[in-house]
Amino acid sequence: MQEEILSIKNQAMAQIMSSKDAAELEQIRIDYFGRSGKLTNLIKKIKEAPEDQRKQIGLTINEVKKSIEELISNQKNSFKESVREWFDPTVPGIKPAIGHVHLVTQTIEEISRIFGRIGFERARYPEVEWDWFAFEALNMPKGHPARDEWETFFVDAPENSRFGKMVLTPHTSNGQVREMLKVKTPPIRMINIAKCYRRQLDISHIPMFHQFEGLVIDKGISIVNLKGTLDYFAKSFFGAERKTRLRPYHFQFTEPSFEIDVSCGVCGGKGCKVCKGGWLELGGAGMVHPNVLKAGNIDSKKYSGFAFGWGVERVLMMKDGINIPDLRMIYSTDLRFLTQF
Ligand code: DAH
Repeated sequence: MQEEILSIKNQAMAQIMSSKDAAELEQIRIDYFGRSGKLTNLIKKIKEAPEDQRKQIGLTINEVKKSIEELISNQKNSFKESVREWFDPTVPGIKPAIGHVHLVTQTIEEISRIFGRIGFERARYPEVEWDWFAFEALNMPKGHPARDEWETFFVDAPENSRFGKMVLTPHTSNGQVREMLKVKTPPIRMINIAKCYRRQLDISHIPMFHQFEGLVIDKGISIVNLKGTLDYFAKSFFGAERKTRLRPYHFQFTEPSFEIDVSCGVCGGKGCKVCKGGWLELGGAGMVHPNVLKAGNIDSKKYSGFAFGWGVERVLMMKDGINIPDLRMIYSTDLRFLTQF
């Protein structure tokens, strides 16, 4: 009888494991545990067994019954789970939000690429800088009134006997003399793009912004080279139809100095609400002052150079199709704004 019990157990297990749904499982349960089920019949037959074996047979049947019931219930649960996990691959998915580099970073990358094509190499210099590189070496001695324009943050740190106080770079021009001292002998073709800090805040000024500074030094560099570089940048960055012009100006570190204008993209240079008589102001430029070359240990009788320094956010806002009414929006964390670019 023990053998019979085991063979029924094996049969039941095989059937349960291969069952495909709850209805089939229920039928199996009836086949074994129903009124005239296989296991029920076995129980009825216990009394026919020899008396000394009955107890053992009863125990075995009980164990078998338990394990079959357990298996049935597990199998039932597995049907439920597969219903819950059922997956329709034709339902359109939910796209996860994907980030992208910030508008200003995109602009910096574009500017680097444009200048990279004509041989400018990207340089980086400290953002926490000595007064000497930010002013003195640029022909602005201590107490010079021209310094006022830069609304500088001074760092509360001990002064250096040679380089003076520590400042947060108010412009990228600090990179000029640093580059000269690093390269030592020209040619130099540097593009320094970095954060700048000034004490200012309104719709067109922020305390932290970016500038890109170009510096070219070699034998025989003239204003013609400067003009050609500016035109190339304006056409690459703003569009082929844009023009530049030089307007006389004054900077301590260039002689002569200019303000650079770009023809307006909206009116094409005729004059409109957006521009000043057809032109938009880009920023400063000029021929490097001999005193600046001297601070960089470069012989101004042998070499000459030009430099320019413009705001990254400013050129970005001058691009066609970009209409940002308040510069501060660029540095907000509002995704409705940021995801547009
Ligand atoms: N550093 C100047 C500023 O922050 C911009 C500038 C003007 C840079 C003339 C130059 C330059 O290199 O030649 O306003």
